[in-house]
Order: sequence, then structure tokens, then C-alpha cells
Amino acid sequence: MDRYAVLGHPITHSLSPQIHALFARQTKQTLDYSGIELPVSSFETRVWQLFKDGYAGFNVTVPFKGDAFDFVDEMTDRARRSRSINTLKKLADGRIFGDTTDGVGLLTDIRDHLGWPLEHQNILLLGAGGAVRAVIEPLLDANPANLVIANRSAQKVEELADDFPAISPSTFDELSGQFDIVINGTSASLSGQVPPLPDGLINAGTKCYDMMYGKTPTSFLRWSAENDALACADGLGMLVAQAAESFYIWRGVRPDVAPVIEALRKSLA
Ligand code: ATR
Repeated sequence: MDRYAVLGHPITHSLSPQIHALFARQTKQTLDYSGIELPVSSFETRVWQLFKDGYAGFNVTVPFKGDAFDFVDEMTDRARRSRSINTLKKLADGRIFGDTTDGVGLLTDIRDHLGWPLEHQNILLLGAGGAVRAVIEPLLDANPANLVIANRSAQKVEELADDFPAISPSTFDELSGQFDIVINGTSASLSGQVPPLPDGLINAGTKCYDMMYGKTPTSFLRWSAENDALACADGLGMLVAQAAESFYIWRGVRPDVAPVIEALRKSLA
């Protein structure tokens, strides 16, 4: 049986084994998918050993997406530009192929699953870390009216603008105007915080998305609801959709994400 795993540190709370088991059942594929916690300092040697042991592919999560980027023999252009890899696959000739599916995951969730249009919209993306870098290109490909990226540290967002000249970089206090969609890609929700956003940024037509998720609404989504956002969504759908794209890379079959998102939402409750 083909074996796959998600590699991270820590890994105990990962939903990926559950997601891929649901995909396998839905698409009638026979495979095994587990979670493996790696020590933070030995990604390369451990992954080589796991491939030698017969694994066919891996998902890679925090903090190893940059290590995976350095590890592969071949990668897609989107992975090269995002400097991040979350999917590894052993090719028939033994070389290792890598891709990033986070951007596809976000777009699939926002546009196809939630039904929020992105074309000609004013979009604000918060943060400038690895999570944000991985989603810029697909967001630009969706042809927004404007993609403003705001971050606490000005230097980090300026670096992003060097690599993606089509974005409008900003700090939080420089932000002005109103947005159709605000996407939180900072890790602030992890510590129950909300980026220091100026008043009046969102209106009753603004949709707010947090790339984080949890059993209860994230701090950013609570802030969004308090500010009368039209709609709020967390990143559970993105998690499932990026997993579906990885599944497609390995198995050549694209699972339907909607029933899996629904099942996970129930199991989180
Ligand atoms: P990830 O890989 O999840 O993107 P990261 O690369 O460490 O993690 O980036 C974290 C992002 O969240 C950064 O943009 C960080 O802002 P800085 O670049 O200014 O550090 C942002 N961030 C984290 N906590 C935040 C907070 N409380 N308020 C605003 N931004 C925050």
C-alpha cells in the first residue's frame, strides 16, 4: 500500500491524516497516511530515510516548508516564487519533486467553495511571512482591482514588493480606504491577538477571511464580526483544499472538498 505522511513539529494536532483518510474513502483509493513529528534540526537526513523506507510522498508543515524548498530536485514555478514547499513526491526515477498547494487551497476555498468573487475586488492581505508569500501569486492571477499587503514590519513587506511588483505594500498605520475582502495571513490569531488595524477599514459589504482556524472563531474573525463584516470565514476550507491539491499531485484524482470540510467542522465542534 502506498504510504504518505505529514511532517511537522509539533504534529499531534494536525488534521491532515483525517482529511486524507476521508479523501481516500471518497475516491476509493487505497493508501496509508500518518503524521510524523521530526526533530527541528534534521529534516534532510530524516526525510531521505523515510523515502528509503518506502514512503511515496509527504506533506510538509510548520516549521519545515523552507527546508523542503532546499531539499527537492525539481519544483514548480509557483513553488520557486513562493520559496515554500508543502508537498513532496518521489518520482519514478527516484528524484524528489516539490510543489506548494497553499495558494490553490486559499483560492479554491474563497472563490469556489465560499463563492466570494476576487476579480476586480479591492483585497487587503495582512502579514508578510511564509504563509502570505505562498498565496500572493494565485491572488494576483485572480485579477483583483488592487492587492494591498500590510505588515507590522515595513521591511518585510517591502521585500515582498521587490519580488511581486504588482502588490501595493503598506504598514498597518498607513492603511486607508475600504476593502471588499480582508484576508488575515498573520499568525496573530495564534496568540489571540488582532493586527492593529485603523478604524473604518471594513464596511457592511466587506468579507473577512482568516487563514487560521479553530474550534471557536479566531480573534480576527471576532473583530471582523464586531465591525459588521458581511461574511466571515476561517482557514479550515483552505486546509482541506490545499490537501486536495496534494492528493491530486500524488494520486491524479481531485477529491471534492465540500463534504470533507463539513465533516471536519462537525468533528471540531
Ligand atoms: P508564517 O509562516 O505563519 O507566515 P512567519 O513567517 O513567522 O509565520 O510570519 C508571521 C507573520 O505574522 C508576520 O507577518 C508577522 O509580522 P512581522 O513581520 O511584523 O513580525 C505577523 N504577526 C505575528 N504576530 C502579529 C501580531 N500580533 N500583530 C500583527 N502581525 C503579527
